[in-house]
Amino acid sequence: MHALRLRQLPAKFHYLTPQQARRWLAVHTAYAPSGGRAIATTAAYRRLFQILARRLAERPVQIISLGCGSGQKDALLALSLYEAGCPVRYLAVDAGQALVLIAADAVTNAAPQCKARRLVADLDELGGWRDFVEQGSERDEVQVFCAFGVLPNTNPDRLIQWLTGLLAPNDHLLISANLYDPEDPGNELQAILPQYDNPETRHWLTTFFADLDWPVTAGQFVFHLHENASPARISATLTLPETFVAAIGTRTFEVPRAACLDIFFSNRFLAADLSAMLERYGFALSQYAETASSAEAVWHAERI
Ligand SMILES: C[S@@+](CC[C@H](N)C(=O)[O-])C[C@H]1O[C@@H](n2cnc3c(N)ncnc32)[C@H](O)[C@@H]1O
Repeated sequence: MHALRLRQLPAKFHYLTPQQARRWLAVHTAYAPSGGRAIATTAAYRRLFQILARRLAERPVQIISLGCGSGQKDALLALSLYEAGCPVRYLAVDAGQALVLIAADAVTNAAPQCKARRLVADLDELGGWRDFVEQGSERDEVQVFCAFGVLPNTNPDRLIQWLTGLLAPNDHLLISANLYDPEDPGNELQAILPQYDNPETRHWLTTFFADLDWPVTAGQFVFHLHENASPARISATLTLPETFVAAIGTRTFEVPRAACLDIFFSNRFLAADLSAMLERYGFALSQYAETASSAEAVWHAERI
């Protein structure tokens, strides 16, 4: 209700139900890199994971995946650690129950000896859960926190500050971001716009309303480019074709016809800016890998 009052839907509201998870996975499958680009993207992650795994060889490790989604990258990490002889535990954390289940399956399929725990939680509300993270751990277990694909849909300063409080000294952080070319940000955002402005994404983004028994069929989506913002981003607004009455439990809230909602955004970063931000919030940078297309990067940082 609060989000509707502000006319701003945080990203988590697009992943909560099984229907949303299914449609998001369809978007992901249709628009994530495929063919040679997918191999190159995976290779960048794998390179970084293998270097980390060699360093941690044979020590028990827990992967804590924040916003785990379908857990594909987590599975790759678990496999690298497994191949390096590390006993692995996995904690899948996401707002969406279906995604937490899918991710835990993906990881235990990749590394069958891995023990998985599942936590359905809102990262925005999650405080004081270090005890839960460490519950059942062996004394020398290494904690590797992953935040893959989370920076695009959140306030980066807020997320990294929160991570600073969550991670203890010697914990590891693996974090990914989408990049843009500073020489020509406008053109670059324009070039990737079709990854967002397409029928599958619109279908997924309107599931929020459908799940509240209000199918949006004729809402007007507009996608916007913010090449001069910091970070640069693509966003989408939805103008409601009719008055929407959200009934949640005994409460109702009305959003009038023609109201314009901020329904989605995706941030793009300059690698140097994000490196500086991580250092500013108390992380030491250990590794950096960029995909061959330079569209995506992953950092290995450690809490000092
Ligand atoms: C773009 S997906 C990335 C998924 C996966 N980590 C990957 O790299 O493919 C973002 C994920 O973050 C989760 N998420 C977003 N906001 C969240 C919040 N406030 N609390 C918990 N999970 C959240 C979503 O449910 C979604 O699974």
